[in-house]
Amino acid sequence: MSERLAVTDEACVDDADQIIDVVEDVLGRHEVPSARAWLRQTLEIPGSWRVVRDRSASPGAVPSIVSIAACLPTPIRLGSVAIPAARVDFVATRASHRGRGHASSLVRELVADSDRRGDVVQLSDGLPYFYRQFGFGYALEAPGMVVLPRVATANVLGDSCAEGASITVRPAATTDIARLDRYVAKSSSGYDIAPGESPWDTWFEISSFGPGTDHLLVAESDGVLVGFTRAHLDSDDVLRVQASYADTSEVARLLHAALSGVGSAGLLALHCGNAVWRDHLAAQAPVMALPFGVSARVPNPVGLLRLLRPEFDRRLDSASVPEPDRNLRLSLFTSAIILEIRAGMIADARAASPSDDAASPEDVAIAPDWFPALVLGRWGAEEQTRRVDDAIAGAHSTTLNTLFPALNAHALVDL
Ligand SMILES: CC(C)(COP(=O)(O)OP(=O)(O)OC[C@H]1O[C@@H](n2cnc3c(N)ncnc32)[C@H](O)[C@@H]1OP(=O)(O)O)[C@@H](O)C(=O)NCCC(=O)NCCS
Repeated sequence: MSERLAVTDEACVDDADQIIDVVEDVLGRHEVPSARAWLRQTLEIPGSWRVVRDRSASPGAVPSIVSIAACLPTPIRLGSVAIPAARVDFVATRASHRGRGHASSLVRELVADSDRRGDVVQLSDGLPYFYRQFGFGYALEAPGMVVLPRVATANVLGDSCAEGASITVRPAATTDIARLDRYVAKSSSGYDIAPGESPWDTWFEISSFGPGTDHLLVAESDGVLVGFTRAHLDSDDVLRVQASYADTSEVARLLHAALSGVGSAGLLALHCGNAVWRDHLAAQAPVMALPFGVSARVPNPVGLLRLLRPEFDRRLDSASVPEPDRNLRLSLFTSAIILEIRAGMIADARAASPSDDAASPEDVAIAPDWFPALVLGRWGAEEQTRRVDDAIAGAHSTTLNTLFPALNAHALVDL
């Protein structure tokens, strides 16, 4: 393969219109409101958007942008720990300029910028084969989705009497944000991994750029939030329901009916949100898997393990057999980490030099691109070491299973 190194630039405010042109041309018109809102919120954050310009244009002409990519702040929560993370998105190259290394250069540089900003995890729900080139590994299963049938729509936006209580389904307002934050945090508390915060400002902005295509609805009863949903109409006229929460099956039914009332050719809902909404979806139609889940990259494994110490301590504390004091060595093949276990807690997590035998039975060994799946609990350590050749528990399977169980993850992707 010939060497292909594109010259990339940090995007500036004047690039916004051209970036939107590329989004519309390559990713489709339905992505435009979202791209516009994310641009407005993040374009001035250093290292968030990069572009490749066509420098073959005649001298004096403004070089047009032919390839774009973004790396957007996307904090996540793992148990009780807040993790600074970023998500690579809006990766697109005009068809006329593909295969020249543009997207690869953009992603490589954005990820390096994200490392420098101190993001501990980078996420992507794009093509896993593409992202593997940059050190990402497949880390979380794809959430299921359901093709929702339409249900009766009479009187859904407005009052409806259910079990004696009056429930109103109405568009969310910016004055709802504090209550929405609390409601969504409570609704997603059953997940080990969930979004750290919802980008409400961006979501409201998307709605204002795309009235009729983007919907944020709340259900309220006696002034108390009892449901929330966010949905987006794509270029095929399908309403994609990306996040929904409901307190009761009656509220789930009302939200579903309200979404059915939005003129569209079909309804596609993510099988996430809270248990009530999930049960409602599962009762409607078969759950299908999305093609790709979430790939992740961990630039600083020691930093991530240090951050997660409260979670490890909790897991060690609830283990059926107490862990003896010892130093558990994790080989990442070209580097290593020592987890110091003292009195049933992680006293320290520190970098160590790699040993000559990278997969010695004295150590746990895990290839760096499989490390995110271990920490984010894609299968849990036991199943991962069974499935993956270069994830090896050595003589430490019990400890590894205690520290790295399978976790349940809220959908971190948008439809
Ligand atoms: C995917 C895309 C961004 C690649 O842009 P590009 O500037 O041509 O990318 P590069 O030249 O840097 O790299 C091409 C590499 O991307 C990978 N790639 C390209 N298309 C791919 C696909 N559909 N699936 C998996 N990998 C793909 C290949 O590994 C290829 O490497 P190779 O040429 O050595 O085989 C571009 O094809 C595009 O805009 N597609 C439509 C939008 C899209 O799918 N975006 C999501 C990307 S996650």
